[in-house]
Amino acid sequence: MTTVEFRTPSALAEAERYTAHNYHPLPVVVADAEGAWVTDVDGRRYLDFLAGYSALNFGHRHPALVAAAHAQLDRLTLTSRAFVHDQFAAFCRGLAQLCGKDLVLPMNTGAEAVETAIKVARKWGYQVKGVPDGRANIVVAENNFHGRTTTIVSFSTDPDARNDFGPYTPGFTVVPYGDLDALTAAIDEHTVAVLLEPIQGEAGVLVPPAGYFAGVREACTERNVLLIADEIQSGLGRTGRTFAIEHEDVVPDMYVLGKALGGGIVPVSAVAADSDVLGVLKPGEHGSTFGGNPLACAVGVEVVKLLESGDFQRRSAELGERLHAGLRALIGHGVLAVRGRGLWAGVDIDPALMTGRQACERLAEHGVLAKDTHGSTIRLAPPLVVSEADLDHAIAVFAKVLEEAAA
Ligand SMILES: Cc1ncc(COP(=O)(O)O)c(C=O)c1O
Repeated sequence: MTTVEFRTPSALAEAERYTAHNYHPLPVVVADAEGAWVTDVDGRRYLDFLAGYSALNFGHRHPALVAAAHAQLDRLTLTSRAFVHDQFAAFCRGLAQLCGKDLVLPMNTGAEAVETAIKVARKWGYQVKGVPDGRANIVVAENNFHGRTTTIVSFSTDPDARNDFGPYTPGFTVVPYGDLDALTAAIDEHTVAVLLEPIQGEAGVLVPPAGYFAGVREACTERNVLLIADEIQSGLGRTGRTFAIEHEDVVPDMYVLGKALGGGIVPVSAVAADSDVLGVLKPGEHGSTFGGNPLACAVGVEVVKLLESGDFQRRSAELGERLHAGLRALIGHGVLAVRGRGLWAGVDIDPALMTGRQACERLAEHGVLAKDTHGSTIRLAPPLVVSEADLDHAIAVFAKVLEEAAA
């Protein structure tokens, strides 16, 4: 008789032993992946319904993206911005055109791009709007999630993200998300920008009331305030459009992008805006050693091409209908509410049945990976390459987990 030795427990224990405990991962140790599927170190396969919090919109190891990365690895990987490299213009042009903006500024992580947007908005406020020095203010929403830097957590309303990380950066006013009157009332002569997620992902995939963003746009234009859309999680095809704010027929002054921009291969983020906004930055005022590096740009060029085809946006819209119909059918059977757009859903589970964490653990046991947020909400965001059959399978697994919990 042979005994099979599973590698997962020791890999988990070692990770736990040598890393800060700033995450509470599901007990799955992934070894390889393709498309919407991942395989763990013990050969078990899972459907990935988190997709790297939307960083994997094009699936794991999309062939065009992997080919671009391989080709670039064999030529040039880093120059810093002290020199220009031959992938830089193509990426910046492609992304600027995709966004319909004059200019882009590439960075690496989402938080860095948000920081960039904040700095640009403040500088624009002083130099263009004429706000008195040191008085610039940015209006943000309750339950926002824009990243983890000290400035960004300063305006977080999540105690876990914020507490004990002070002293906090001033210059932000927090208003309830989706409340146009509150937002309009918060704008004053020192307001330089309104920074919002078109759909609040970390908060539980919260979609604002119809017309909210049109109203925000109007208020910003009227009061000479920049509208900054943080599309880091909601953008690049996730909701069935290139940008989630398009559902509201609204064009922001600045897009903040990240996650899927790096094709799930390298960290790539950027802000995009017209030259009257992004043009306020002069040499030496902002930068990043790795921002806009050749490898990032080579992958980014292909990401932009994938999005230009519109195929991923269409797929997300079509399969999104299927996902939402499937999930809505579970309301009353352990599900209290379903929100979202395209292939992105926040599902509130009846807390009497189980916590979101327990649901995710049981989903993983049945071969589907997802992540909980705020107690009893689960976020589902499969790669946009997921097949109909795999989507149906995941919904069936979800139904089974609810049934088993109710039994
Ligand atoms: C809307 C939004 N903004 C910013 C960020 C921060 O991105 P990063 O983790 O790459 O710094 C995230 C990450 O989840 C996000 O969802």
